[in-house]
Amino acid sequence: MRISVIGCGYLGAVHAAAMAQLGHDVVGLDVDAAKVAVLASGRAPFFEPGLPELLTETLSTGRLRFTTDPAEVVGAQVHFVCVGTPQKRGEFGADLAYVDAAFESLLPYLSDGDIVAGKSTVPVGTAERLAAELIGTGATLVWNPEFLREGFAVEDTLHPDRLVYGIPEGEPGAKAKVVLDEVYAIPLAEGTPLVVTDYATAQLVKVAANSFLATKISFINAMAELCEATGADVAGLADAIGHDARIGRKFLNAGLGFGGGCLPKDIRAFMARAGELGVDQALSFLREVDSINMRRRVRMVDLAREVCGGSIVGRRIAVLGAAFKPNSDDVRDSPALSVAAQMQLQGAHVVVTDPQAIANARAKWPDLNFAETAEEAAINADVILLATEWDEYRNLDPDKLATVVHKMRVLDGRNVLDPEVWRAAGWTYRALGRR
Ligand code: UGA
Repeated sequence: MRISVIGCGYLGAVHAAAMAQLGHDVVGLDVDAAKVAVLASGRAPFFEPGLPELLTETLSTGRLRFTTDPAEVVGAQVHFVCVGTPQKRGEFGADLAYVDAAFESLLPYLSDGDIVAGKSTVPVGTAERLAAELIGTGATLVWNPEFLREGFAVEDTLHPDRLVYGIPEGEPGAKAKVVLDEVYAIPLAEGTPLVVTDYATAQLVKVAANSFLATKISFINAMAELCEATGADVAGLADAIGHDARIGRKFLNAGLGFGGGCLPKDIRAFMARAGELGVDQALSFLREVDSINMRRRVRMVDLAREVCGGSIVGRRIAVLGAAFKPNSDDVRDSPALSVAAQMQLQGAHVVVTDPQAIANARAKWPDLNFAETAEEAAINADVILLATEWDEYRNLDPDKLATVVHKMRVLDGRNVLDPEVWRAAGWTYRALGRR
């Protein structure tokens, strides 16, 4: 099947390559000529495990190409809209400028029977508005949200947990379902659960899922605050409640909280949309989810101050991690960088390191200092803060690190180090929600 993918960022680039891997003939469209050139050469414009290999493989089959020319979508039967919907400046709502621009660029090239499949995360009601724009083109809109995680994007796209189609009523919807079934024939044959529903539900599924995940993280971080006040241990607590299959252990890791380009902006946009719909009370708990999350960052700066004896002014702090999570070079709303910047603003000498995200971090926070490795960042440090749980930081050797630091103090911002091992090696170990 011929497919076009509009927007080749984190979502679109992976989706385009994955669709080609499933056997389709794919053209990826983006307005950014530099990004198109990088992708066309088989490289990924961002760090995503497995993506360069997938790009190289699918480009070599001739089934995948990239372009900046919207006219090249002609002939594709399905057009996936994968552009970003960032948070508006100074407001909670989502900025739909890229979605609107993508539709505008597509409209002149659509033919009778085409399917436009929205994948971007949008406020509920957007699909209904966009469907109206397609009237007269002969194309049908479907809403087909995406649930990939950065760091596992290739795996999640090729082997999704579930597929969701939001389709219109009647014959256009039935026909669209047949086409989507063909697009996803391989994952469907492998038993991927499929939910076929209306536009509104499909749009809500995405933000509801992200809101639930954010709530789970903030729930355990709220418990971490209780643990700190009572001398309890949040990691043990999470293990114990996680054994209840109805609760589950996943997404119960307490620490610096959630960041990235999705969860924070999605819960805020969801609250904004609920307000517009007159049901803001239904989501007022998300305000608390957001503030518990932001409070973790403040608490970490306080903890650094505490271990330094009351002030971080002039102290050297090594921050291990800049990406919002491991296996990504994405620094959007990164808890690690936000804490690093706060500490620097409050007078500490902060040195940040990350296996993949230094370039992105430097572009965003040029005033911070950067080092290539954890050992280099730790030289003469008064405090080591593990802020992003990359494997190489989880596996740091406390004895080796002790030889370069000024003071043996470690703050475990992700609860991934073994306190007994570090304490036995002579370190002062502190974490959020742990003794
Ligand atoms: C999230 C969702 O997990 C995906 O399903 C969704 O498709 C995606 O957003 C999206 O909307 O596009 P992602 O932002 O890649 O994916 O990252 P997550 O793995 O969800 O992690 C988000 C943040 O939560 C990270 O900062 C991570 O460190 C933090 N986190 C995660 C915790 O603090 N504790 C946990 O137990 C789990």
